[in-house]
Amino acid sequence: PVELFDLVVFGATGDLSQRKLLPALFHRDLQGQIPPGSRIIGCSRRSLTNEAFQAFARKAIEDHVPEADRPADVMARFLERVSYVTADAAQDAGWAELGKLLKPESHRIRVFYLAVGPDLFGPICDRLGAYHLVTPQTRVVIEKPLGKSGASAHALNESIGKVFKEPQIYRIDHYLGKETVQNLMALRFANALFEPVWNSGHIDHVQITVAETLGVEGRAGYYDTAGALRDMVQNHMLQLLCLVAMEPPTSTQADALRDEKLKVLKSLKPITAEAVPNVTVRGQYRAGAANGGAVKGYLEELGSATSKTETFVALKAEINNWRWAGVPFYLRTGKRLPSRVSEIVVTFKPIPHSVFDGQAGPIAPNRLVIRLQPDEGVKLWLMIKDPGPGGMRLSNVPLDMSFADAFNVRNPDAYERLIMDVVRGNQALFMRRDEVEAAWGWIDPVLDAWAASSELPKQYTAGTWGPSSAVALIERDGRTWYEDQ
Ligand code: BG6
Repeated sequence: PVELFDLVVFGATGDLSQRKLLPALFHRDLQGQIPPGSRIIGCSRRSLTNEAFQAFARKAIEDHVPEADRPADVMARFLERVSYVTADAAQDAGWAELGKLLKPESHRIRVFYLAVGPDLFGPICDRLGAYHLVTPQTRVVIEKPLGKSGASAHALNESIGKVFKEPQIYRIDHYLGKETVQNLMALRFANALFEPVWNSGHIDHVQITVAETLGVEGRAGYYDTAGALRDMVQNHMLQLLCLVAMEPPTSTQADALRDEKLKVLKSLKPITAEAVPNVTVRGQYRAGAANGGAVKGYLEELGSATSKTETFVALKAEINNWRWAGVPFYLRTGKRLPSRVSEIVVTFKPIPHSVFDGQAGPIAPNRLVIRLQPDEGVKLWLMIKDPGPGGMRLSNVPLDMSFADAFNVRNPDAYERLIMDVVRGNQALFMRRDEVEAAWGWIDPVLDAWAASSELPKQYTAGTWGPSSAVALIERDGRTWYEDQ
């Protein structure tokens, strides 16, 4: 179990709370990790009684936790922890009541989870400060969008920073809570095999793909102001790139890790306005077939004929440092692609010389594939002799480890791990302010160049791997996107 805590969820009746936070907390309670007496206090401007919010929480859990994991006694215990306060960030009503509820337990760990839009981060923090709700044991949790640009991220950080000190601020990137993402660190730093070859001397290039089959799913209002570069690349994909590329940290202590990630972000080769057309591709899906049926195009879903928002990005990143000079990192992500797959593919350099004759067939370079989802696992492609007496014929065959087969355990949702880390006071899997701002610093010129360009995003048919220029981006360099065989 963690220490006793009070967790206040702002935006408690919203989508994040319903789909992720309440189910994650319930799972932790089921595992016996939440000590008796800990409280979960929902808060939003909707006027609700405790009972009504408890009914909301029960429904959220029934909808998102399998029945076998919901024994009645745990459900009853969980709902007993849950209460509700009506408070509006823009008004004084409710805040004193929240203060009264929290005050008797002011020695406890206190977490404010801001599951609300970023325009409310500043106003809520101001009220928390004004009503003296911030104790030394208090933490605040926020999640993207953390700004729309470097300047707006800076302003957001300033407004939160007026009330909370950096060690109290937990910026969630839910990708960092995924099991396989943490496994990347285990793979790199708990094995002697990889680190000696983890550099430009041995690695040809790295690919990071986060492909989704879903479209914008009723989030078009938000999505159209963001686009794939802000929604996925600035945060999740750059975090993945950092974990692949960073130097070994001195420990897994939060700042040791974050210092190393920051160095990678600062070493990213700036993409100038002139380079943007050559090293970035933006796409937008049109109607097609995905997820087993006909689907609308992005513009039809949005109900706009003019949006230039990209639903697909491919780009080539380079890291200007000793370890990675000359090793491109190709990133691509998009909605309405043919399959849901997130993976990191490290392609090693070809062998320097073949001792085999032409009969042996081509010798493919070794590849290490780290699959984040679905079917989490690690695959190492090796050249092997085909069995049989027919001479030396070579095949490319994977050493394949599926985590589901190797460990017969449930994969916890990222939020379970992350919320408990907030209570424990461990910031290792959260982004520090300087990281977020450095990531924007690299993204901003691309956004600016796209905004200044009269070119529209390239159209791609829903259910395909993005516009053909994304293929050209990597093929120009004599490489191809990895396809699982
Ligand atoms: C979110 C994005 O951060 O990540 C969504 O806003 C995206 O657009 C989602 O669908 C993908 O997360 P996951 O965990 O399903 O890969």
